[in-house]
Amino acid sequence: MTLTLTTAGESHGPALVAIVTGLPAGLRLDREAIDADLRRRRQGYGRSPRQNLEEDEVEVLAGVRHGVTLGTPLALVIRNRDHGSWEWGMSPWPPAGQPSGKGTGPVTLPRPGHADLAGALKFGHDDVRNALERASARQTAVHVAAGAVAKSLLGAIGIDVSGRVLEIGGAEARWEAVTDEARANRDTLGGVVEVVATGAPPGLGSYSEKSDRLDARLAAALMGIQAVKGVEIGDGFALARLRGSAAHDEIEPNRRRRTNRAGGLEAGVTNGEEVVVRAAMKPLPTLMRPLRSVDLESGEPGEALVERSDVQAVEALAVVAEAAVAWELARAAREKFGGDALVDFVGAYAAYLERIAWPPTR
Ligand SMILES: Cc1cc2nc3c(=O)[nH]c(=O)nc-3n(C[C@H](O)[C@H](O)[C@H](O)COP(=O)(O)O)c2cc1C
Repeated sequence: MTLTLTTAGESHGPALVAIVTGLPAGLRLDREAIDADLRRRRQGYGRSPRQNLEEDEVEVLAGVRHGVTLGTPLALVIRNRDHGSWEWGMSPWPPAGQPSGKGTGPVTLPRPGHADLAGALKFGHDDVRNALERASARQTAVHVAAGAVAKSLLGAIGIDVSGRVLEIGGAEARWEAVTDEARANRDTLGGVVEVVATGAPPGLGSYSEKSDRLDARLAAALMGIQAVKGVEIGDGFALARLRGSAAHDEIEPNRRRRTNRAGGLEAGVTNGEEVVVRAAMKPLPTLMRPLRSVDLESGEPGEALVERSDVQAVEALAVVAEAAVAWELARAAREKFGGDALVDFVGAYAAYLERIAWPPTR
């Protein structure tokens, strides 16, 4: 038993969609909790005005009845409100009438750092928009919705996942001032976020194959988020500079640890301590003072595409990373505890906790 997530949707297309399979029946979902995470994703000081426009709300088309999962595929939709201005430009079918709104002319000046050049070459697009629309982080909205569902499942076994910002533009405080300065200079910023999961039992993930390791899966999930260029588990890179005697978390008689340099993961398996992961985001590639590029049509040097864009999206990344970690933990929990009905899943979890309890409960 595992969880799967498949998504589709262009940034300025009609909607984002997701299909989730592998949820047990009987899980109560809270529509407001999903929408609250979607709101959190849109917030943040450095976001573009588009975020005010996109009043994201989840629509559930299948898999839930009266707020409770049926154990069947869950279908989620988030409409792109912005699509109204792009109806001609992003029409799935050859558009009728005269070109109007946004996205009517081809984009031929790729932005360094974005999907534009690599995507256009890879897929043979003359219009860079055909690459950038899907590469855009707009799709993270539907991942956040799926992450909210995963958090509901994790809640049933006492696991809580929470993301927060550690740094923006190299600063650990005064983020608004740093963002204002970058905006004034028509520049962009990156940053670092941290996600902590409490309540994970020992034994999620495995070491048998690379693909089973939960540390590898968390790293892939975080690296899979747009603009993430570094991932750290526990003390990560700092561990490389320590002696072994100072790097590992000694085991107490009660099988717990006093330190957590491993970030709750040993050999790709949770060890019962908090799961702690960090992700580093590069400065966003769309610059209001554009970098040098080339016009793909004429071959002449030019300046990269300028399009409405965030100055920084680190607060949003904290929410997206939280969703990604929740999703991977929920997937690992489904693999370990299985069950068609939520009571089976929770029952298997309780029986497992009893088996590993120290001192033994019976
Ligand atoms: C929440 C979020 C919001 C983002 N917003 C923007 C943006 O407004 N402008 C931009 O150029 N890049 C933005 N990005 C980053 C790009 O989508 C990303 O850099 C691009 O797809 C290329 O992928 P890569 O950076 O992973 O190589 C955002 C990323 C995230 C996670």
